[in-house]
Amino acid sequence: MSDFGGQGGAGEAALTRGAALLNGDAPASCLLDGPLDPCAIVIFGASGDLTARKLIPALYNLFINQGLPEAFLVVGAARTAMGDEQFRDKMREALGRHQNLDEARWPEFARRLHYQELDYDQDDSYAALAQRLEYLCREQGVGGNRVFNLAIPPQLYATVARGLGRAGLAGEERGWARLVVEKPFGHDLASAEELDRAIAEAFQEHQVFRIDHYLAKETVQNVLLLRFANAIFEPLWNRNYVDHVIIMATETLGVEHRAGYYEKAGVLRDMFQNHMMQLLSLIAMEPPSRYGADRVRDEKTKVFRSLRPFPVDHVYDHLVLGQYGEGRIKGKPAPAYRAEPEVAGDSLSPTFALMRAFVDNWRWQGVPFYLVSGKRLQAKRTRMVIQFKEVPHSLFRETLGEHISANRLTLGVHPEEDITLTFQTKNPGARLCLRSVKMLFDYKQGHEGPLLDAYEKALLDCMLGDHMLFWRQDGIALTWSYLDPILRRCESCDQRAGRLHVYPAGSWGPPEAGRLLPAWPGAAQ
Ligand code: BG6
Repeated sequence: MSDFGGQGGAGEAALTRGAALLNGDAPASCLLDGPLDPCAIVIFGASGDLTARKLIPALYNLFINQGLPEAFLVVGAARTAMGDEQFRDKMREALGRHQNLDEARWPEFARRLHYQELDYDQDDSYAALAQRLEYLCREQGVGGNRVFNLAIPPQLYATVARGLGRAGLAGEERGWARLVVEKPFGHDLASAEELDRAIAEAFQEHQVFRIDHYLAKETVQNVLLLRFANAIFEPLWNRNYVDHVIIMATETLGVEHRAGYYEKAGVLRDMFQNHMMQLLSLIAMEPPSRYGADRVRDEKTKVFRSLRPFPVDHVYDHLVLGQYGEGRIKGKPAPAYRAEPEVAGDSLSPTFALMRAFVDNWRWQGVPFYLVSGKRLQAKRTRMVIQFKEVPHSLFRETLGEHISANRLTLGVHPEEDITLTFQTKNPGARLCLRSVKMLFDYKQGHEGPLLDAYEKALLDCMLGDHMLFWRQDGIALTWSYLDPILRRCESCDQRAGRLHVYPAGSWGPPEAGRLLPAWPGAAQ
């Protein structure tokens, strides 16, 4: 594995530049304090939804906020036959649907957009792409740096990586070449390793950027700063003071138009193998010696390695699975999962899971980590809750006959981007009684200037060569090793149907969840 984030490596240099992003003193229109390397960004799957909804808007916003290099160009590549102008029109229309376009600056952006028809299976197509890139980059003074973004179905990842390799596009002789890959990284450990081998035929690890959009969320990035840039939290951040941790990512949305993928994935593959594991590692990891991509990822790897193997013989003592039934979301009727388009009428794919995990190390021995995620729940809520232990001895309990709630630190990611600390105070008045109050930090407080959305941040970091917010392959293999036995057991269990609890859309999931975690539903405060 390369030391891309190591001392003196390209990653560290990039990080220093990246660290000045969104500096409070910087003018609102400026995302960077130094120039980025010129580069060409090639988007595979350019006629698809992800390109129109996420990637082009992210690039456009970076462009508007001066977060792209002076010299850059974008080549969209896909099977659909289309010319440059048609591609530009399509992107303009898609952008206009979601945000205001700056009419004066659109032509400047648009002239950098190009389109190349490509057949993913054909070597000729990659040769033609290489030639076109060579020509456009020479013409526009862009040089030899390339980002290849895979916005294509996962089954094509290996084909495209190999195609790029055979066309000589993965080589770094004349500039850097970087491959951006989206989840899912395989369907299980074996397929994740197979995908990695295919990518590794053409690209080295330091060239691969595996996106987890949760890592690029501002408030998620803040976890390490909160923990390690403050002296007051870390002494309490262990089994002596923490009773349990809840990591939740609940949604009101259903499966939408993604049944083809979701039916095979279910919530454990869709949310747990990636986002939930990343959040867990940020809460549980030890402090790295420096803030560098590989050092941080080394510490995360140690957490994944320390996960207590799941007791698969008693899997349902530690795991509750559910699937949404008919219900109401925000007052409107919502269909059952099984009634969604392209979902089997007898589908057993879970759309809700609550899991109790343990990290077997000195710091966390015996502290349960509850991971909860589900679709069609009552609210969209992403947060990490550190529930501290109760006071060791309550001198008030007998006098007041009151239960004293333990302290709780909540790191809100969505919808609230905040940090709250709950503690006890005296209620004003003659009588002695307690009340729970919250100390609140709102993340946007005191901040002016552009906030980067997750895709903008991921693309920018890729251009900077900073791997901090991307998965490394060892983490992927370890998280699959943890989940594989659980998935195998659940998917082969005789009572599979009986173990999948149907919950009404718009609720907080099946009541069984409350048996595993009494503080549920919704980890309300
Ligand atoms: C994606 C999952 O990775 O994350 C989706 O595939 C899920 O099923 C989404 O809806 C949630 O992301 P966010 O940012 O809306 O919490």
